[in-house]
Amino acid sequence: MAKTKILGFAGSLRKDSYNKALLRAVQELLPEGAELEIFNLEGIPLFNQDLELDQPEKVREFKAKIRAADALLIATPEYNYSVPGVLKNALDSASRPYGDNPFDGKPVAIMGASIGMLGTGRAQYHLRQSMVFLNMHPVNRPEVIITFAQQKIDQSGRVTDEETRGTIQELLKALIAWTNKLKNPS
Ligand SMILES: Cc1cc2nc3c(=O)[nH]c(=O)nc-3n(C[C@H](O)[C@H](O)[C@H](O)COP(=O)(O)O)c2cc1C
Repeated sequence: MAKTKILGFAGSLRKDSYNKALLRAVQELLPEGAELEIFNLEGIPLFNQDLELDQPEKVREFKAKIRAADALLIATPEYNYSVPGVLKNALDSASRPYGDNPFDGKPVAIMGASIGMLGTGRAQYHLRQSMVFLNMHPVNRPEVIITFAQQKIDQSGRVTDEETRGTIQELLKALIAWTNKLKNPS
């Protein structure tokens, strides 16, 4: 059977980002039969609707990779109680022009790490709201909401907390099952 191709991207450009670390952990935790490609959002220009018919190369590349993937995986921080501009800008850019939305019908899983006590929950719910219009199909459970990331991800960027690693693994299993179910609904 062909492998489930997952495209992952993080809503942080920071070199030592905890959310980038989550995606690296996924490389270690992926079940058999699935593969992950990580796409770096760095270099996507600020969206300008005047230019939406002449998309920058980086946006075209992103859209092509979204289309080629069976499923998406987003790891995002929370900025000021919401989705970071980097991630929202990437979603807005890739979703245009109207009628050329590569997110349409895509299964997607969300996870997020923050240094605070609510661990990106508010950002994740705002992200889910955008997914309604984009017609994405997010996994509902488990919600991977990683609080106090500095205690669970070490200085080398390794996710050391076993419970966190277990929850990520559960999310990956759920994403793959959900992707298969959407492909073969019977
Ligand atoms: C502009 C900005 C806004 C932030 N707002 C929040 C917030 O609303 N909630 C939260 O839990 N952490 C917030 N933080 C702290 C982030 O959790 C922390 O910077 C985290 O490391 C960002 O994720 P990253 O490591 O993947 O870059 C904010 C950080 C920045 C830079």
